[in-house]
Amino acid sequence: MSDKKQVYHGSDIELIEKAYGVPKEKIINFSDNVNPLGVSDTVKQKLASNLDLISTYPDRNYTALRKKIGAYVHGDPENIMVGNGATELISILIQNLQPAKAIVVGPTYSEYEREIRLQGGQVQYYGLSEELDFQVDSDHLITHISSAIGLLVICNPNNPTSSSFSQKDLVKILDHCKETNTFVLIDETYMEFAQNQEELTAIPLLGTYDNFMVLRGVSKFFSAPGLRLGYGLCSNTTLLESINQQKNPWTLNTLGSFAGEIMFEDEAYIQKTYSLIQEERTRIYEELLTWPEVHAYPPTANFILLKIKKKHINTTNVFEKLIRKGFLIRDASSFNFLDQRFIRFCFKMPKENDQLLLALKEILTR
Ligand SMILES: Cc1ncc(COP(=O)(O)O)c(C=O)c1O
Repeated sequence: MSDKKQVYHGSDIELIEKAYGVPKEKIINFSDNVNPLGVSDTVKQKLASNLDLISTYPDRNYTALRKKIGAYVHGDPENIMVGNGATELISILIQNLQPAKAIVVGPTYSEYEREIRLQGGQVQYYGLSEELDFQVDSDHLITHISSAIGLLVICNPNNPTSSSFSQKDLVKILDHCKETNTFVLIDETYMEFAQNQEELTAIPLLGTYDNFMVLRGVSKFFSAPGLRLGYGLCSNTTLLESINQQKNPWTLNTLGSFAGEIMFEDEAYIQKTYSLIQEERTRIYEELLTWPEVHAYPPTANFILLKIKKKHINTTNVFEKLIRKGFLIRDASSFNFLDQRFIRFCFKMPKENDQLLLALKEILTR
C-alpha cells in the first residue's frame, strides 16, 4: 500500500477544505458511504431528552442492546458482542487470533491489512477479477486457502467494488475453512443496503459454523458514524468470552448504547432507507450503463465503483474538478488492484445524485 499516492477519505473534509479552498458547508460528501437521510428524528428526539444518561456508566454487558440487536438481525443475543464501531471489533478480533498468515479478499477496505500487520501477521491478497465485475469465484478462492492461513477476511458487500458474496459462496468457503482450521472475518457493514440481503448475509449460518464472525455497525445504514456503535456475531462462545476479557470495558458509551436500542426498532426509517437506496441504485446504475465513457460495476451496496474509459482523464482530474464544484467523491486508486481509472461514490438524495451525474458527465465529455 505504501507505493500508492495519498488520497482523501470521506472523513477528511477539513483537510480537503484547506487543500482546495472549498468551504466544508458547501461540500456534498459522496465519499463517506453514509445514509443520506441523516439520523432519524425519533433517535434525535429521544437522545436529546435523555442526555442525563452521560452521568451513568453503560451496562457492562450491554444486555438490553444485545437483545435489540438480536431481534433486528434474527440472531441469538448470546452470540453478540458490541464495541466502538466495527473498527474496534476488527482490531480486537485480529489481536485475539494473531494470525501468522492471512488472506484478504481485495480490493477492499484497508483496516484489515493494517491490523493484521500491526499484530505481526503476513497479509496476502486474493484479487477479485475485474473481468467478473469483481464477483468472487469461490471455487477458485478456496484453492488458495490452506492450513497455513489462520484468517480469511471478506467484506460483504465489498468496499469499494460494491460486489457481494452469496450465502452459497459463503457455505462453500466456510466448509473449506473448517477443514483448514481458518477463521473467517465477514464484514457486513454495508449488508442492510443490499436488496437481497437474506441471500447474502452469513448470519443464518451461525447455527452451523463456529469458525466465523460477522461484523456490522450503525455508522453507514443508520447514518451515525459519530456514535461509534459496532457489533459482532459469532457462535464460538469460547472465542467471544476470550475477546470480552481482553476488551476494555464500556468502549461503547451510554448514549451510543441507548441510541442503538431505539435505532434497531425504527421500522419507518429502515423501510424509507431501503426504498430510497434501491431506487437510486437502480436509477443511477441504469443511467451509467448508457455512458460510453465509463464502466459501471453492478452495485449491491449504497455506492458504486466506476472505471473511467477515456485515456486522457484520470481519477485525480475527476476528483479535483468535482471537489471544486463541491462534490466529494472517492478517488479509488489507493485501493490494492485499482489504479488511476477508478472512482467510487455513494448514493445521496435524488437531487444531489442528479447534480453529481451532471457534473461528472460534463467532465468526462469535455
Ligand atoms: C468495510 C468497512 N468496514 C468498517 C468500516 C468502519 O465502520 P465503523 O464506523 O463501524 O467502525 C468502514 C468505514 O468506512 C468500512 O468501509
